[in-house]
Amino acid sequence: MDHFIYKDGELCAEGVALSKIAREVGTPFYVYSQATLERHYQVFADAVKDIEATICFAVKANSNISVLRVLADQGAGADVVSVGELKRAIKAGVPAQKVVFSGVGKSRSDLVYAVKAGIRQINVESEEELVVLNEVAQELGARMPIVLRVNPDVDAKTHEKISTGKSDNKFGIDWKRAVEVYQRASNMAGIDAKGLACHIGSQLTDLEPFRAAFRRMKEMVLELRGLGLDVSRVDLGGGLGIPYDEGATPLPVEYGKLVVEELGGLDVEFEFEPGRMIAGNAGLLVSEVLYVKQGPEKTFVVIDAAMNDLMRPSLYGAYHAIVPVLQPEVDNEQMTYDVVGPICETGDTFAKGRVLPKLAPHDLVAFRTAGAYGSSMSSTYNSRDLVPEVMVKGNDYAVIRKRVDIEALMELENLADWQG
Ligand code: LLP
Repeated sequence: MDHFIYKDGELCAEGVALSKIAREVGTPFYVYSQATLERHYQVFADAVKDIEATICFAVKANSNISVLRVLADQGAGADVVSVGELKRAIKAGVPAQKVVFSGVGKSRSDLVYAVKAGIRQINVESEEELVVLNEVAQELGARMPIVLRVNPDVDAKTHEKISTGKSDNKFGIDWKRAVEVYQRASNMAGIDAKGLACHIGSQLTDLEPFRAAFRRMKEMVLELRGLGLDVSRVDLGGGLGIPYDEGATPLPVEYGKLVVEELGGLDVEFEFEPGRMIAGNAGLLVSEVLYVKQGPEKTFVVIDAAMNDLMRPSLYGAYHAIVPVLQPEVDNEQMTYDVVGPICETGDTFAKGRVLPKLAPHDLVAFRTAGAYGSSMSSTYNSRDLVPEVMVKGNDYAVIRKRVDIEALMELENLADWQG
């Protein structure tokens, strides 16, 4: 459930009409609903309330500091994958002790920064990283809490580009070697081995792959304990899918039940790293129709948002519902459109053959479910602006990232000194 609904014939974010924001900040823009972010966080927290858990929001899904603050105020920690994300989380008020640092390619300087920042744990993804971290921690006189990210070799049955738990994916330590590596970690002076982690992919619409991964995790925890090693934490990653269309997705409460069923008796603290489930339906991308262009075979709706603003359709063939901001009449005329952006490549297509109410230039449209992996993946390709982001709370709204325009971007560049 979200708080983007039609009121008085117009799509609103909570109590604010999107057309009003459009007039003030210009299109395209992202808009988030604070109440929706809070609600989704609480739904997840409720789903895992029967176990000891830290919910570390996956910052990559939406890294705006104001979004992170909303979640921090709800009690969220953060799952970060770069020093940049770590700095954002800290700036937003997430306590360092609730931050976990994942990622397959942390550099030595990333590790130094994380150890100094006193974060909760580093999720180590290879034996090679473990060795470097051990050196770094000892140099800094620290004993760094870690979990080993295990690759459980489970097919998440999601899009291949966001599947991470198969043995041919780059992530984690092969489950067959993980026990040996954990033993090694437990003997390292700079390392405080706390437990295991896994994350098998994103946008999972079936719980069974989670079950398979959780079983593997349990076997490994028991094996480690059988060897006399301490295991007090299990990080189960993120990945819960959300509805982008009419298709059913598992409810967080069912996911929570599954965790209790498979791992409940394990006497560990859990960490979860949900991203999409919390932010996805809490954001829209709002854009204006520039032209309705009649081609020989198709009608194109050319809008002012493009693949640089929302990459998911062009990168993954992802579906985003597109709705008009002015509520269509019940008996509106339906048209079949290709919805495209202004960027100079055919991949800049949001939807093909989409049936929509008839659109005209200057109409506003909104992409639903754009709060996760929308703005955080945007770029300035074709020298386009980074679009503004707006937070709505009740009848109030605030620009939480101003438009980064071409003047600001060009400020970062200069001619080489031999170019005069
Ligand atoms: N933890 C780790 C270690 C991850 O790699 C990810 C996502 C998450 C947590 C959060 O997963 P979530 O709960 O959001 O599914 N750009 C893609 C999604 C990439 C996900 C990468 N990792 C998309 O737009 O679909």
